[in-house]
Amino acid sequence: MFVDEDNITDLAVQRWGTAHPKRLSELMTALVRHLHAFARDVQLTEDEWMAAIEWLTAAGQISNEKRQELILTSDVLGLSMLVVQLNNRYAPEATPATVLGPFHIDGSPAAPYGFDMSDGIAGTPLFFTGKVTDVEGEPIAHAVLDAWQADADGNYESQMPDVDEARLRAKYRTREDGTYCIRTIAPRGYAIPMDGPVGDLIRKTDISYFRPAHVHFLIDEPGHQKLITHLFQEGSEYLDSDVVFGTKDALVVRFTERPAGVAPDGSTLDEPYLHAEYDFVLQPD
Ligand code: BEZ
Ligand code: FE
Repeated sequence: MFVDEDNITDLAVQRWGTAHPKRLSELMTALVRHLHAFARDVQLTEDEWMAAIEWLTAAGQISNEKRQELILTSDVLGLSMLVVQLNNRYAPEATPATVLGPFHIDGSPAAPYGFDMSDGIAGTPLFFTGKVTDVEGEPIAHAVLDAWQADADGNYESQMPDVDEARLRAKYRTREDGTYCIRTIAPRGYAIPMDGPVGDLIRKTDISYFRPAHVHFLIDEPGHQKLITHLFQEGSEYLDSDVVFGTKDALVVRFTERPAGVAPDGSTLDEPYLHAEYDFVLQPD
């Protein structure tokens, strides 16, 4: 049978329906149907489609082992956060998940209770304390909290080519009673990378390209769903306009100002600091 405008979608769906395993065939046939519907819906022109292909090519070409423009694309389209929500439907008392983002680095060093992961980087000292528990409130001993964040200029370690040791990232472990203590510096809101194809596209819109101040956490404990989340600073700018749709009420935490003196880890600080208290509650498998 020859192809015409009316039968092309059915023909392409038939061909891609031969993909295996079955799930791949399900994904590819749905993709073909939705792409064809999109082209029909907007009456896509050849110039527009070529511009889109050039944009995708540029997004691939600017990506490398440290930069991932296609993850960023998925993030700003809201697709990453939709996939997170579809796959992490937790009990209301569990800590909600949010986007991983492109800046997580595997293999952060193990850090003792109260360790300062900012290691002399300028900024206001910030302590996170609390527990890791299950949904019944039972503490989880020895749970690993993998934490990472940007510095006060909004830069992550992977955006700094010359840095060759862990910077603003560490893996903390809860004590026997489930408690943890992290020392770091206050994060600030920052712009997503705007010097590539995603930035070019966003500049053609009124979209704010900032994220509110946050610290990332990953907790992967046996018997529980892997939790990938952030804690956001209460009152931070951009909470209502996060460019990657990652904010949730339950993840917004007060960073309380405290005077110089005894810090939550028992040490003495000669400058004022911030203290955020938060219990991470893990969803059972
Ligand atoms: C981040 O929070 O690290 C991030 C997430 C998505 C896009 C860009 C940055
Ligand atoms: Fe971030």
